Amino acid sequence: WSCVAIERERTLAMIKPDGLSGNYTERIKEVILESGFDIVKETAVQLDAERASLFYAEHSGRSFFDSLVKYMTSGPVLVMILERPDAILHWRVLIGPTDARKAKTSHPNSHKSYASFHFSIRAMCGVDSEKNCVHGSDSPQSAAREISFFFGDVRSDTVEHDEL
Ligand code: PPS
Repeated sequence: WSCVAIERERTLAMIKPDGLSGNYTERIKEVILESGFDIVKETAVQLDAERASLFYAEHSGRSFFDSLVKYMTSGPVLVMILERPDAILHWRVLIGPTDARKAKTSHPNSHKSYASFHFSIRAMCGVDSEKNCVHGSDSPQSAAREISFFFGDVRSDTVEHDEL
């Protein structure tokens, strides 16, 4: 037999204020682990307006920016580094569309509505485009930036995991 090394990848996941205040943390972590991710590191953070604005700097010109910053500073968030093969894409699929109302009614491959057909975390605990429960990095570049934003340089940190 031969052993193929599958490259693991890291992404930044965040449980937003509505997810924490709604007590969804434990359920979300179960889904994370059931989906084959390791939680490499985690920390709870209270963002202030300056840090939230910096984190979402690429959206600073958008109409919802002030509201987003206000919401993201309304309570603590839980940030986690998740790791598995293809972590960035897998986490984005698992969290579902930005607008949690769409997440509750959407089938991934059609315009028809199948309530609860396609499981996603936002379908489970999000409300709308602002209160959408969770965040995920959208590219390798943003994952690197967002991980170092919250955790500094952790490239050399490793987790123990079973051999593939
Ligand atoms: S994405 O992922 O960039 O395609 O999504 P996008 O729609 O561009 O949204 C980027 C982030 O902005 C938040 N958002 C909003 N906040 C408040 N009000 C409104 N209307 C709104 N629309 C989008 C959205 O939750 C995204 O946050 P993150 O944390 O990146 O998912």
